[in-house]
This record gives sequence, C-alpha cells and structure tokens, in this order.
Amino acid sequence: MTDLTAADLTDLFRRELQLCAVKPGESLVVLAEPSSRAEYVAAAFGAAKSLGAHVIQATVPGGSPVPLPSVRTGSGAGLLSVDANPLAQQLMFEADIVVDLTNEGFIHTTLLKQILQHGTRVIFVADAPEVLARNIGQPEDKLRAKEAVELLRGGKELVVTSAAGTDLVASLDNGHPGYQCGFADDPGRWDHWPSLMVVSWPLTSRGTIVLAPGDVLLPFKTYVQEPVTLSITDGRIADIKGGADARLLEMFLEDADDEEAYYLSHMGWGLMKTADWFSLSMYDKESNMGMDARAMAGNFLFSTGPHPFMGRDTYNHLDIPLRGCTIRVDDKVVVEEGRLLG
Ligand SMILES: [Fe+2]
Repeated sequence: MTDLTAADLTDLFRRELQLCAVKPGESLVVLAEPSSRAEYVAAAFGAAKSLGAHVIQATVPGGSPVPLPSVRTGSGAGLLSVDANPLAQQLMFEADIVVDLTNEGFIHTTLLKQILQHGTRVIFVADAPEVLARNIGQPEDKLRAKEAVELLRGGKELVVTSAAGTDLVASLDNGHPGYQCGFADDPGRWDHWPSLMVVSWPLTSRGTIVLAPGDVLLPFKTYVQEPVTLSITDGRIADIKGGADARLLEMFLEDADDEEAYYLSHMGWGLMKTADWFSLSMYDKESNMGMDARAMAGNFLFSTGPHPFMGRDTYNHLDIPLRGCTIRVDDKVVVEEGRLLG
C-alpha cells in the first residue's frame, strides 16, 4: 500500500514555513509525540528540507497533566515529559524555529517562555488539514492584528453588548494586549496556525455575559443549546444561570476545585475572515482544536482561568467564542452585532 497523504500537505507546510520566514541554513525542529499526525510530521520535514533548512524530527513521550485527555483541547499545560527532558529542551533552545505538532503544544507553560527567551520561534499546528488550508495566513494579517493591538493598548475600557443580553465592561489599563496571526516570523515569537485574533488580559471586569444558542464551548467542542447567563463581579464569575449548558459549566468549575478557575482570563475578538463556525460539527472531536471558532472574524472570545499578568497559572481554562456581539474600545466600535468593521 502507498500512503501519499503527506504529499498533499507538503506544499501547504512549505507555504506556512515561508510565512514563518524559514531561510536556507536555519535550524528547524519538528516536534512530535507518538500520537501526532504522521503525515504532518512528514510534510513539515519535507517542506523544511525543500527550503534549505537543517531539519531534525524529535518525538517525545505524550501525555498531559490536565483533567482532560490530550485531544487537542488548547487548554492544557502541554507535554510535561519535556519538562524533565533537558536534551529535548536544549534542542528547542538552540533551534531557529520549532514546528510544534504535539497535541497540546506549550501554550500555557513556563517552558515556552524559556524557549522563546532563546530567540526560538515556535509555530504550533493542531487542526485538521482542511482547516489549515482554508485559513492559511497572508503576510498582511500581522499588520491587521497589530493595528488592533495598538487600539487596545490606547484604550481604557472594552465594552461588549449583545441582543442576547451580554453587557460587559473590562478594564484595558495594563491589559497587555497581544495577538496571534497564524505564523511566527520574528525571533522569540510563538504563534498558532491557523489563527488571527487580538486579545487583552483585563485585570478586572464587571457585568453580564450571556451565551446564546449556537455559541461555542471550548475545550468541550460543543455548541450552546440554551442561554447561559454569567454574572461577572471583580473579574470573577459570581453566578451562573441557565439550563443544561449552565450546569455543565458549573460542574466544570466545581470539579476544578480551584478558586482561580472562576476568574476571567484573556478576551478579545477574531479577525480570521476565512473561518468556518460549523467546522467543529463536521469532524470528530480529536481532529480539531477549534481555531475556526476561536479566531472567526467578529466573534467575541473570552476565557477563564490562567492569567500570566496576575500570577494565576491554573490549567482549568475555558475558551468561549460568542457570535452577534457589539464590541467597543472606549467609543470606537470594532465589531457590530458580530460583524467585524474595517
Ligand atoms: Fe485561551
């Protein structure tokens, strides 16, 4: 039998690595775990080689410490096996770029900070092939994301409202705005393919968030069926009301047995115009991390749990993208009833 799956993907990975400014003579590590997609490993390896990079493929043991299986949740700590593997760490410290094909990456880890401090760029890839292809970035995406970052940096308040009942005010003072643009072309930069979004890390927020039917709960990868009303006081979920989905969220937070889990984390909006809200419903849950929903242009994405600028490092992390919201930075409307302006 001939398996040519990787052949279809090699051109795609080559385009991505070009966006990541991979140059001849650079050192590139393809990082995998045993359950990584073999065709991604082969495609990344071949693409790197075709661009003249010095490529090494490293497979480390899998596993995740979060109270969730390691099935591309986007919520976990990543591979703890690497925390105790100085050789693997050294490989990434010395690399110019790491193509991270592990199931959870290093999104919320201190190890990621150390890797980036060495100037290594990291591009994380977890979603299904069609999702990667449809949402592959353009060089100008980074500029769009950076413009949104500057708007957040100069703002005082992020205000989110919706016909469903959301009415939230979040402080932007010292909110450390950031972005994802789908490729990592600067030294010390982590990014995620696919993604295009802007986020802030409000130190506090207040009001109400109403999840409407059709909104998405991550990492569960489900669509909300009945409205859920979250009361937010001092940046913390003080009360949850609603039906089955509300109970699910209550149970998640109760099971966490972790006061930090109740606090709001990053929030912002999606800029990715190629995103498909329905892709989550078309795949089995293991195939996708859900970046279509997280980054869809005009969504409001908020999250719970970890907050690096407030010293909260819990692994209990929900990402919840909402449709149909109006988002303002002070008086400037950036998203109107779910439509991205500009
Ligand atoms: Fe998140």
